[in-house]
Amino acid sequence: MTEQEPHPVPAGLETRPMLHSDVDEVWEMEKALFPADAWPREMFIGELDLVDTRNYWVVQDAGKIVAYCGLMCVLPLSDVQTIAVDPDYEGRGIGTHLLRLMIDTAVKLGATDLLLEVREDNPRAQGLYERHGFEAIHRRKGYYRDGVDAIIMRKVLFTAG
Ligand SMILES: CC(C)(COP(=O)(O)OP(=O)(O)OC[C@H]1O[C@@H](n2cnc3c(N)ncnc32)[C@H](O)[C@@H]1OP(=O)(O)O)[C@@H](O)C(=O)NCCC(=O)NCCS
Repeated sequence: MTEQEPHPVPAGLETRPMLHSDVDEVWEMEKALFPADAWPREMFIGELDLVDTRNYWVVQDAGKIVAYCGLMCVLPLSDVQTIAVDPDYEGRGIGTHLLRLMIDTAVKLGATDLLLEVREDNPRAQGLYERHGFEAIHRRKGYYRDGVDAIIMRKVLFTAG
């Protein structure tokens, strides 16, 4: 599959925009998946309120949320705010689907770059990003609450000329 082709959601699952009514379910996943640095519940509500600059999605399996992600786009830059997949659903292409969805949306919105930060001790996520054209551009020492460094990664979407 080339980088330009959309990456569909795996069969049987549904992707749709995240709603305020999803926040409780998403937050339970957040606490389980990011024990050291979960966002407060209010942060999700605040993000969903910023309708001009944010796009959040959930993936559902028979009504149960199994993944979510969020994109910020304040031109000319865009940022992956979060991406998370239920451990029972990992390795089925959902992370790839959501990352491609954010890349495609950032391109459509006219962003020049897509940025993200990832824990240094998360090689799986880093590998996913590298395979989709992200490069490490910076390290934030001790950025996370437990002292782990953040790696800032960038995917160039448009270049001048
Ligand atoms: C990182 C994460 C989003 C990936 O989601 P996913 O649905 O498992 O991703 P995919 O199924 O699309 O697989 C992505 C790649 O990982 C590979 N992979 C699958 N299982 C793996 C495993 N156990 N270990 C390492 N790589 C694995 C896949 O082969 C795939 O490789 P490819 O791009 O060459 O095809 C998911 O693991 C997750 O939510 N982790 C916890 C939260 C997190 O770390 N979020 C990122 C914060 S920056």
